Amino acid sequence: MNAYSSGPIGVTRLLVHGANGRMGQALLRLAGTRGDLQVVAAVARTVGQRVIDGVPQYAATELHAAPEFDVAIDFSLPDGFSSVLALCIERGSGLVSGTTGLDDRQKTAISAAGRSIPVVWASNFSLGVAVLASLVERAARALPGWDCDVIEAHHSRKVDAPSGTALTLGDIAAAQGAQPRYESIRAGDIVGEHTVQFTSDGERIELVHRATNRDIFARGALHAAARLVGRPAGVYGLSDLID
Ligand SMILES: NC(=O)c1ccc[n+]([C@@H]2O[C@H](COP(=O)([O-])OP(=O)(O)OC[C@H]3O[C@@H](n4cnc5c(N)ncnc54)[C@H](OP(=O)(O)O)[C@@H]3O)[C@@H](O)[C@H]2O)c1
Repeated sequence: MNAYSSGPIGVTRLLVHGANGRMGQALLRLAGTRGDLQVVAAVARTVGQRVIDGVPQYAATELHAAPEFDVAIDFSLPDGFSSVLALCIERGSGLVSGTTGLDDRQKTAISAAGRSIPVVWASNFSLGVAVLASLVERAARALPGWDCDVIEAHHSRKVDAPSGTALTLGDIAAAQGAQPRYESIRAGDIVGEHTVQFTSDGERIELVHRATNRDIFARGALHAAARLVGRPAGVYGLSDLID
């Protein structure tokens, strides 16, 4: 890790990658309410003003000009992910990423990065989905042979389908012997809904999580960033960083 020498003592310096997006904007707003975090760079594909609310803005092509930072928080798109991962390795900084739709090569790169920096990637940073995941695991284990369907709904501009969270929930059910099927709905401004349905003859269980505000993901990612600082290199799960 870098020495964290140039920021105020106890303050974690953040680079926000994907800063113009829906998640990026929530991250910038909520980071500004925390005394233990300071955003030192906001990076997006394109940049208008050079400084917004005191935060220097960088285009993706200028990533290497960003100042020293302790942790990058990345909620961008798969084609931006690899460059921020490479920068974190180069600088010895941590990485918190929620970008979904990564390919196998990028997932392997996360594991490899864990040899030199602390990194956490999660398909969903909400506490409610962490609880949903444990309920899905329990239901799948208790209901062998039942049909298992993962149904997810998101806003019409979401690029990947099924969502990263749907795939994570399906993997958890599959690890218990279920054979999940996936349905995706893209409509309007839906923030994120996931239903895991177990069906047998004459009965059905539905486990549902509805996100109505993306601040829950941003808060979880900021919390993870604050808890990642000072940790040894490794790939961490959200559960490692939650009290
Ligand atoms: N894990 C979770 O809890 C969670 C929760 C919500 C969303 N997500 C995921 O987070 C990601 C972002 O979601 P969103 O709704 O905020 O998307 P969005 O509104 O489309 O924003 C994407 C942002 O990424 C930037 N970007 C795109 N390509 C880039 C590149 N090559 N280099 C640098 N920046 C680039 C865009 O810049 P421009 O604006 O300049 O084009 C924009 O600022 C998606 O993968 C989504 O699935 C994860």
